[in-house]
Amino acid sequence: MDALTLMRKGPVIPVIVVNDAAVAVDLAHALVAGGMTVLEVTLRTKAALAAMRRMRDELPEVIVGAGTLRTRPQMEAALDAGAQFCVSPGLTPELASAARSAGVPFIPGVATPSEAMHAQDEGFLVQKLFPAEAVGGVRLLQALAGPLPDLRFCPTGGIHAGNAAEYLAQPNVMAVGGSWLTPDDAIGTRDWARITRLAAEAAALAHG
Ligand code: 3PG
Repeated sequence: MDALTLMRKGPVIPVIVVNDAAVAVDLAHALVAGGMTVLEVTLRTKAALAAMRRMRDELPEVIVGAGTLRTRPQMEAALDAGAQFCVSPGLTPELASAARSAGVPFIPGVATPSEAMHAQDEGFLVQKLFPAEAVGGVRLLQALAGPLPDLRFCPTGGIHAGNAAEYLAQPNVMAVGGSWLTPDDAIGTRDWARITRLAAEAAALAHG
C-alpha cells in the first residue's frame, strides 16, 4: 500500500495518545464503531508500542500506524510492533533513510515550502502539514497548490469537527488527522460511546 491509498482509506485519521495499553483495544473498537479505519498511535507515551501491538492483534481489519517518530530507533521499534505506516512531525536525513527501507508508507511533517520541497526531493509526495492551524491552515494549503502541484497533504494540528470539512474540501488535501476524536477525559473515564459519536461525526464530514 502506498501513502495515497492509505490517505484515501482515512480520510480522517484519529491521532491517539494512549497512557494505558489496557484500554487500547476498547478505544480502537470505539473508533471503528464510528467508522474510522486508519488509526495513528503517537509514540509519546510508554504505553504506545504495547497499545499498537494489541490493536494489531485484536483488530486485523484496521490499519494501525505510529506517529510522532523522531528517530530511526523509534521507527524500528514501531515497525517491530506492527506499524503499517509511520508519521513524523518533521523530516531528518536519518528518518528519510530509515523510511526508505521500512516497507510501509512514511508521511513526513512539513511547515514551509522549502521543507515540502526537501521532502519531495527525498521522495515523499504525501506530507503532513504540521502544525496546520498554527502555520497557516487552509490558506497556506491553497497557496502551496500552485507552486507545488505534485504534493498532497494530511494537515494535522488544530483540526477539529468545526474545521475538518474545509480542509478536506481542498484539492491538495487527502486526509486530515487529529486528536479531537479521542479526548483525554473520554479515554480516562472509558466513555467509549462519546468517542464513537465523535468518530461518526468525523466520518460523516469526510464522506459528506
Ligand atoms: C499530531 O501529533 O499530529 C498532533 O499533535 C495532533 O494535533 P492535535 O492534537 O491538534 O489534533
